[in-house]
Amino acid sequence: MAPRPYIQPVVDSTAVFKADLFNGKVLFCTGGGSGICKAMTESVMRHGANAVILGRKIDRLTAAAEELSAKTGRKCLPIQADVRKPEQLKDAVAKTIEKFGRIDFVICGAAGNFLAPIQGISENAFRTVIEIDTLGTYHTIKATLPYVRQSKGSYIHVSATLHYRGTPYQVHVSAAKAAVDATSAVLAVEEGPHGVRSNVIAPGPIAGTEGMDRLGPKGPTSISSEFYRAMPVGRMGDVKDIANTTVFLFSDAASFITGQIIVVDGGNEHLRVPGLPYPESVLDPESVKAMIKPRL
Ligand SMILES: NC(=O)c1ccc[n+]([C@@H]2O[C@H](COP(=O)([O-])OP(=O)(O)OC[C@H]3O[C@@H](n4cnc5c(N)ncnc54)[C@H](OP(=O)(O)O)[C@@H]3O)[C@@H](O)[C@H]2O)c1
Repeated sequence: MAPRPYIQPVVDSTAVFKADLFNGKVLFCTGGGSGICKAMTESVMRHGANAVILGRKIDRLTAAAEELSAKTGRKCLPIQADVRKPEQLKDAVAKTIEKFGRIDFVICGAAGNFLAPIQGISENAFRTVIEIDTLGTYHTIKATLPYVRQSKGSYIHVSATLHYRGTPYQVHVSAAKAAVDATSAVLAVEEGPHGVRSNVIAPGPIAGTEGMDRLGPKGPTSISSEFYRAMPVGRMGDVKDIANTTVFLFSDAASFITGQIIVVDGGNEHLRVPGLPYPESVLDPESVKAMIKPRL
């Protein structure tokens, strides 16, 4: 195997952006208790903002909030809420205003995913992903918008790239994320004149996350190692790559950027090595069971 002459570095946002960039600002982040959204929250806090993180598992949220505060010296409020329930989001927004008095930035990141073919996925499972990703995003926007208008703030929706083409076993998430992308564009156009911006970050494969653990191919097969090697920048994504994009998009340096989808995937989209062997994976799901974690 030929060695890589260059591998793009992973850097901290503090090496590039001012430390006090977000002083006095408040972030409201769904899905902020884990993975990519936790890293996004940490980076915004590192630049001076206080934050609220939401999810269903309060123990994990509380531990994450303590860790984020300890690492950044800013305040982080954990709130248990299910994004499928609009009243729980309204309640969370009320608690945020009571504690911090404002909302400047919103990250809509809560999501569910697993691998399942169209024929095998239950109606209930399909609906659940649409409810978390798409309706959850809408509920979050609806609950926060009056305050984001006041602060002339900004939204980031965490989407994906898998719906740009037909990704097998991802019908539920493809439908849900396509709707998230469309929602962000409408939000940008409707709210732009009020001073609100809205953009989407579409991460590629990000190492060490729940998403990759569930969806990435496993095992020492040639196709899975080819998938991991096929990254034009020379490495897998890091949560810091998404965090750095977040800091830029929330900053005034991005004041002319709204209604956009920013793909952060190391060029992976343009190469597109399939994660699972095709067409074997769809013709004979049993043959790839060992390569994937969840149910088929
Ligand atoms: N990992 C990747 O490589 C990758 C690639 C492309 C896109 N993405 C996107 O990046 C985002 C984060 O993914 P991740 O891999 O970091 O996974 P993750 O750690 O599982 O993050 C998902 C978060 O959403 C929360 N959540 C799920 N259902 C919820 C609900 N009904 N109400 C409130 N919160 C809920 C979870 O917390 P609770 O379980 O406590 O509710 C969890 O904190 C997702 O939008 C995902 O689609 C990830």
